[in-house]
Amino acid sequence: MRSMTLRGLFRRWCSGSSLRGSGGNIPDWIWERSRFVDKLHVRHGHPLCTIRGMIEAEMLAGLTKKGGGVHVETKLDPVVTSRQCFDELLVGQDHPSRSESDTYFLDGTKERVLRTHMTAHDTELLRKGARRFIISGDVYRRDAVDRSHYPIFHQMDGVNVFERANRKHVEDDLKETLSSMARNIFGKDANIRWVPGSFPFTSPSFEMEIFWRGEWLEVLGCGELQEQVLIHGGLVPTETENRGWAFGLGLERLAMVLFDIPDIRLFWSEDERFSSQFQDGVVQPFRPYSKYPPCYKDIAFWVPTRYHENHFFELVRGIAGDLVESVEEIDKFARGDRLSLCYRVVYRSMDRSLTNEEIDSLQDQVRAKSAAELGVTLR
Ligand code: DAH
Repeated sequence: MRSMTLRGLFRRWCSGSSLRGSGGNIPDWIWERSRFVDKLHVRHGHPLCTIRGMIEAEMLAGLTKKGGGVHVETKLDPVVTSRQCFDELLVGQDHPSRSESDTYFLDGTKERVLRTHMTAHDTELLRKGARRFIISGDVYRRDAVDRSHYPIFHQMDGVNVFERANRKHVEDDLKETLSSMARNIFGKDANIRWVPGSFPFTSPSFEMEIFWRGEWLEVLGCGELQEQVLIHGGLVPTETENRGWAFGLGLERLAMVLFDIPDIRLFWSEDERFSSQFQDGVVQPFRPYSKYPPCYKDIAFWVPTRYHENHFFELVRGIAGDLVESVEEIDKFARGDRLSLCYRVVYRSMDRSLTNEEIDSLQDQVRAKSAAELGVTLR
């Protein structure tokens, strides 16, 4: 083992890197953000914190009206076990969220992950005796690069378990509590509809949609907790006892709609012109301070047999950080058994103009690293 100074050890302990073993797939910048203390959803004045506070207050009011305490958590550690994140929630063995192309694993054993959803805490909190809770935090997924996808985003989940209630009662209470929350956030006359959903841990499952500015907007997922999930939570459900509901929603998606925020990267902006526009607890439309020109660069390559586009997306994000606005596949063709892909990378800063040299240098790095790390052959 390499020798390490005391200071080095201390720094390593503080950054939590001792948690990470070998064979994991978490880029350093993502890992570092997962260790932040001051996360966006608890940063006063930040739109995500305002949205979180509003929904939390509405849910608390709805739940406490019917008696009993409600447990609220905003600072649960995003490192959880695969058991919590998947197994105990009945996520199938072949579900894409279990694969390395979609999820961040701490090491090669795949035993620990950066949670892909807040639902990962449900069974643990039930085992600890909580029966009603509202939890929010940062979640992590490898995904597309565009205006509404970022590898770190924020969710709120809630659970309500009744000591005595039949299934009809659970479903009625679920719909009533969540509709009333949505009306208080989107307006008394909000047009709400329920559509069938599909989540492994709930049955029946629903999605709530709201008619907003001419289209149906998906607001949340929810349903009655599966008996087996309740059992994993240490409960003994019968036809009329220990049954409950759960819901989950994405905070960015709602904040983008309510604050008119056009690009998900803005939530991470350190620019005064962004942060100075918002006040704690107040929903007001974002005024774009300026729109800088985009710059397009195309890259084409032959892909190896084992290739997943999420690896390329992450590679670009790792090099360009928040200067990349989107990565889109624009062409694809096969010759013999070889496949060629062409992607268009759009570079644009939220805060300033980029120079040609800067963009060329980013694109050169993207080309070199793709060839070196993804096994592709540049064309
Ligand atoms: N965990 C789900 C997701 O990330 C959202 C969700 C759906 C949470 C239904 C729930 C639920 O608690 O009951 O997409």
